[in-house]
Amino acid sequence: MFDATIYAARRAQAMRSVGTGVIVLPGNDLLGMNYKANEYPFRQDGSFLYFTGLDTPSLCLWLDCESGEEVLCGPEPDLMHTIWSGPAPSLGELAERAGVARHGSAVGVQELCRKAMGNGREVHYLPPYQGDGVLRLARFLGRTPGEIEAGFSQRLIEAMVELRSLKDETEVEEIRRAVAVSADMYAELMACCRPGVSEMELYGRLQGLILSRGSREAFPMILSRRGEVLHNHTHDQILRQGDLLLVDSGVCSPRGYASDITRTLPVGGAFTPWQRDIYEIVLHAQAVGIASMAPGIPFLDCHLAAAKVMVEGLSALGLMRGKPEVVVAAGAHALFCPHGLGHMLGLDVHDMESLGEDNVGYDQEFRRSGQFGLSGLRMARRLRPGFVVTVEPGIYFIPDLIRLWREQGRQTEFIDYDALEPYLDFGGIRIEDDVLVTETGVDVLSATIPKTVAELEDRMAQ
Ligand code: GLY
Ligand code: MN
Ligand code: MN
Repeated sequence: MFDATIYAARRAQAMRSVGTGVIVLPGNDLLGMNYKANEYPFRQDGSFLYFTGLDTPSLCLWLDCESGEEVLCGPEPDLMHTIWSGPAPSLGELAERAGVARHGSAVGVQELCRKAMGNGREVHYLPPYQGDGVLRLARFLGRTPGEIEAGFSQRLIEAMVELRSLKDETEVEEIRRAVAVSADMYAELMACCRPGVSEMELYGRLQGLILSRGSREAFPMILSRRGEVLHNHTHDQILRQGDLLLVDSGVCSPRGYASDITRTLPVGGAFTPWQRDIYEIVLHAQAVGIASMAPGIPFLDCHLAAAKVMVEGLSALGLMRGKPEVVVAAGAHALFCPHGLGHMLGLDVHDMESLGEDNVGYDQEFRRSGQFGLSGLRMARRLRPGFVVTVEPGIYFIPDLIRLWREQGRQTEFIDYDALEPYLDFGGIRIEDDVLVTETGVDVLSATIPKTVAELEDRMAQ
């Protein structure tokens, strides 16, 4: 945990921003996998963690924006808890660690909420994303689950986004610590990525490394020779000479902050000429995307600058044609890159996504496009010092998508479908780094993880 004063200051700022009413913020609960007592690994809610640092299930934070009163509610660990799960700190000790003055029973929060509502006060809560969280709030507030899902507080969302978007030095240091574990993971990967090795073996080695470093995954790892499947969580293939292996992974720092890194490696240690061509385009697109970033610059512009580089590169290979600005405006490049350039990173790997992507990455100035590809851009708004975002362009040859567009005659002015035929089993390449926006420019937090063709081939030859 950080010092309790940090959490207290964050809560005070949120109460000031929301101004009136009360805030009820349930932490996450344990969830049963196949029966209640066989639980998924616990993951605390990002906003609850931001306000308390407490990685304990079944707690709820109650804040009075007007009086400044703070209460941590939850169950007291009992004898059965001690017998089955070991001794645990009392609720009072947890409250003290988080700098919360009062604590109360799990039912206490219901009484506090009902009393506030009885006095005509607004109860602010964030959109719950687990069924269990919906039901707890429904119980606290005496509302139906449907009413709870619809009744979240936009004012609280805006206050949270403003606070959590701007990472201070201690938070950036946490992300650096997560990135350091990721760097070790990719070094291990480069040493072990050989023909004949199974994806599952590599997955197991990387999992072992994460655990041995006292860390855990920030999201389920993507590790596949079929990198064109954007979120491919299967690991059931054997690597072959000449494959590309895409590994997109992130780990949590001790205080829960995430890294999110992607590297695409040539199995066997050397890119084929056509793999190298595509790889260099993605790498160049990433470099231009990062170079475009600075305080005040809309991340949308960085996305479009990277997209233009991809169009130029694919045109040089004869796969696309047309003026890059026109091609990008038409959205033709989305056949190859149907996702956005990146997203905010923090306590959540897609930071604050549960608060609504549009609330995090868009604002009055930028509205989300409906165009295929651009509609997947999670973050468009102007960058500010303290933002940490991922920059993760990719080029994918998705056979079903290519065939569909071809059948539908889509974007034929810009795409040479005949030239694409030999690429149908190419796979996909993505390169992802984590970038801090500073007062004057950017700091690539994952800059030491090898990614140029020469760096990767040298490392893999060792
Ligand atoms: N974890 C998928 C991504 O890079 O956003
Ligand atoms: Mn990723
Ligand atoms: Mn990412």
